[in-house]
Amino acid sequence: ERRRTGYTYEEYKQTADWLLAKTKYRPSVAIVLGSGLGGLADFLENPVVFKYTDIPNFPQSTVEGHAGQLMFGNLNGKPCVCMKGRFHMYEGHPLWKVAFPIRIFFLMGVRTVLLTNAAGGLNKEYKVGDLMIIKDHINMPGLVGQNPLTGKNDERFGPRFPPLSDAYDKDLRKLVLAVGQELGHSDIMKEGVYVSVGGPSYETIAECKFLSRLGADAVGMSTVPEVIVARHCGMRVLAISLITNKVVMDYESNTTANHEEVLETGKNSSKVMEKLVTTLLQRIKHN
Ligand code: 6GU
Repeated sequence: ERRRTGYTYEEYKQTADWLLAKTKYRPSVAIVLGSGLGGLADFLENPVVFKYTDIPNFPQSTVEGHAGQLMFGNLNGKPCVCMKGRFHMYEGHPLWKVAFPIRIFFLMGVRTVLLTNAAGGLNKEYKVGDLMIIKDHINMPGLVGQNPLTGKNDERFGPRFPPLSDAYDKDLRKLVLAVGQELGHSDIMKEGVYVSVGGPSYETIAECKFLSRLGADAVGMSTVPEVIVARHCGMRVLAISLITNKVVMDYESNTTANHEEVLETGKNSSKVMEKLVTTLLQRIKHN
C-alpha cells in the first residue's frame, strides 16, 4: 500500500464541521503562537478552548512550551482563533500534518493568518528581543523535497503549482511596521528573511555561516509549512519572528543555543508582541 501523503478532504471537513458545531465564533483571523509566545491567549475574552487531544483528526503536540490548545475568543473585541502550540517536523510529523490546522481555519472562514515564532538571529545587526517581520523565506527542507503540498493536489484548496513570490502580504507588513512605530518600538522592529530548517538540533557554526551567506536573517524550525499551505488556499499571511538568541558564528565563542534561553526571552519580549498583534487586529480589514 502506498504511504499516505495527506488527509482526505472529508477529514478536513469533519474537523472543521465539528468545531463549527461546538462554537459560535466565526473568526476571520487565525493566530499561531510560537515557543514562549502563548501568553497572548490569556487576553482572549470569553474563550472557548479545545484541547488538541479532543479535536477529531487533530495532530498532537509534544514540545515543552507548546500547550496544545485551540482557543476561540475576542481580542480587544475582535473574534479570532489562536493555536497555543503548533506542530513541527522535528516531532516526527509529516508536513501535511504540521499544516493541518491551516486548512481547518480556511474551511471555517478564516482569511488572514498571523504566525509567530522564536528564531535565532543570523543578521549581525539583530539583537536578542528584536521582532523580525518576515518578508521572505528560504525553505531548506522544501528545496530537497519536503513540502507540505507534496502528494496529490486537491483543487478545492488551491493550484498544483502555487507561487510564493508574494507570500508575505505587503499591506500587512506595512501595517505592522506602522503600528510598531506608533507604539514606540521602531528600535526593535526589523524586516528580514527567515530560513527554515528541520531541527531539532541547533545549527553548527559552519551551518550558521552557510545560512547567513545564503541571505537569511533569522533561522527557525517552524512557520514555513503553514505559510505555504495558507498561501495555497489564498489566505493573507503575516509572520513575525522573535529573535530569542544570536546564533554562534565564531569558533572562539563559549555560548551555545538552548531551549531555556529561547523560552526565557519569549517571556520578556512577548509583551511587545502581544500589544503589537492585538493592536494590529483592530486595524486589519476583516473580510
Ligand atoms: Cl539558533 N536555530 C533554530 N533552528 N531555531 C531556533 C533558534 C536557532 N533559536 C530559536 N529557535
